[in-house]
Amino acid sequence: MTKRLTTTAGAPIADNQNSLTAGARGPVLMQDYQLIEKLAHQNRERIPERVVHAKGWGAFGTLKITGDISKYTRAKALQPGSETPMLARFSTVAGEQGAADHERDVRGFALKFYTEEGNWDLVGNNTPVFFIRDPYKFPDFIHTQKRHPRSNLRSPTAMWDFWALSPESLHQVTILMSDRGLPTTPMHMNGYGSHTYSLWNDAGERFWVKFHWKTQQGHSHYTNAQGAEITGQTREGYQESLFGSIEAGDFPRWTLQVQIMPEADAEKTPYNPFDLTKVWPHADYPPIEVGVMELNRNADNYFAEIEQAAFSPSNIVPGIGFSPDKMLQARIFSYADAHRYRLGTHYEALPVNAPKCPVHHYHKDGSMNFMGQQTGAQDAYYEPNTMGGAAQDPAVAEPPLRIDGDADRYNHRDGNDDFSQPRALHDLMNDDQRARLYMNTAETMQGVPAEIIDRALANYDQVSPAYGDGIRAALACLAGSKDAAE
Ligand code: NDP
Ligand code: HEM
Repeated sequence: MTKRLTTTAGAPIADNQNSLTAGARGPVLMQDYQLIEKLAHQNRERIPERVVHAKGWGAFGTLKITGDISKYTRAKALQPGSETPMLARFSTVAGEQGAADHERDVRGFALKFYTEEGNWDLVGNNTPVFFIRDPYKFPDFIHTQKRHPRSNLRSPTAMWDFWALSPESLHQVTILMSDRGLPTTPMHMNGYGSHTYSLWNDAGERFWVKFHWKTQQGHSHYTNAQGAEITGQTREGYQESLFGSIEAGDFPRWTLQVQIMPEADAEKTPYNPFDLTKVWPHADYPPIEVGVMELNRNADNYFAEIEQAAFSPSNIVPGIGFSPDKMLQARIFSYADAHRYRLGTHYEALPVNAPKCPVHHYHKDGSMNFMGQQTGAQDAYYEPNTMGGAAQDPAVAEPPLRIDGDADRYNHRDGNDDFSQPRALHDLMNDDQRARLYMNTAETMQGVPAEIIDRALANYDQVSPAYGDGIRAALACLAGSKDAAE
């Protein structure tokens, strides 16, 4: 039998087609609460989009651990044989919610693992490094990626002005302009935790760690021309491919690998292992295979389960810890703050964000609190108490992290080599890949003032003269085609 339509207060509705009016021609009566409720709810259907990574595609799945890294970590979700339900959301960074999927951009690779000791979020990208190494510069950097205040258009001049003044961006910009800057689908790219995190074991030993998610679908990319052609047909290519693949039972998988660095090595590496613009060379810290992530279930409601998903690098669990990486430290604050604004105080109680283990805390009240008290005992609404309320568990204490140094604003460019690692990447590309890298870079420089381009090229020359000259040749080629067309 058809279910009966009601108001949100549960009262049955007799007519959902005709407003309540004085006479057949109106006007509408103010007492038509059902009409007012409908219009008022519609006005509140949109929530603020994410300030970055607004356009995204997500699905649920499982992480299965097949390797054994138990000597490094006591994290339950990383023990041999463990299976943990999880959520993934992929995204572009710069575009708004309605942006086209097939644009050249870094892709977000955000993961939430519902472990038995709380939610562990690994909020990474499809790149192992980032554009900047000091979080102070993040809002400035993002402003260059978003719209110009006057033209309301994206500004290649702003992007190149910032990048050319920030040589630490060379590594990430090289990846962005390479083939990997435009994957065909979210399933055909790797994911990286990017930051250095830490693992700690029951003996209280700490190890530095990098997380990598290697696509089992293989890498596949579009050229800019192919991307533009697809965007002319559909702006939703990633949603179509990820959703469609999972609906068809063709489940994408990624292999989880970690690189492990003994705690004391951090003092010895020629690069700062907590610098987000650097990778750890595989030869020095070989990847260890840990498990497989499979995405096998689409959300039933995109808004409730993907749009309202709230990932945060602050969500770690016993056995996994942070590192001194300045960027990571800032993100520990920034995401939960964004969620309180975008979703509300109790965003963690929404079903998609709620841990699948018992939750006990002494936070109280607040807007839309439907959970009531979560202290574990009725009369315990403060802590400590003798009322049987939840109490701390020293068994999950992380080993202490030694930190020293004077508080100061240290120049993050001092003593940093911004060129060797982009050079290693440039060197591992074949001639065709390099030709596309040069042309992709030159295409984004169109319309940018010559002095900014010259400053950028001087940086590329320091990576490798061949890199700078390759972009110069591509720029000349584009200028030639423009002249010929005029
Ligand atoms: P390796 O030869 O051991 O590894 C090269 C890595 O580069 C592989 O992980 C490969 O990914 C990846 N790669 C290939 N083409 C691209 C591209 N266009 N964009 C991004 N990554 C790409 O060398 P090293 O470990 O010594 O690193 C050399 C350089 O490789 C680094 O400077 C860095 O730019 C890049 N790189 C290194 C990573 C690391 O963790 N060491 C991770 C990713 C990139 P895959 O295995 O999936 O094919
Ligand atoms: C989204 C801040 C660097 C990956 C976001 C959001 C904020 C933010 C505020 C929106 C969150 C929301 O509304 O749900 C920052 C700051 C950074 C930083 C302050 C640096 C200081 C990074 C880095 C990575 C990254 C280095 C990857 C390694 C992501 C991803 C999302 C995101 C994947 C989308 C998460 C989702 O799918 O919901 N970031 N970010 N960010 N960020 Fe960052």
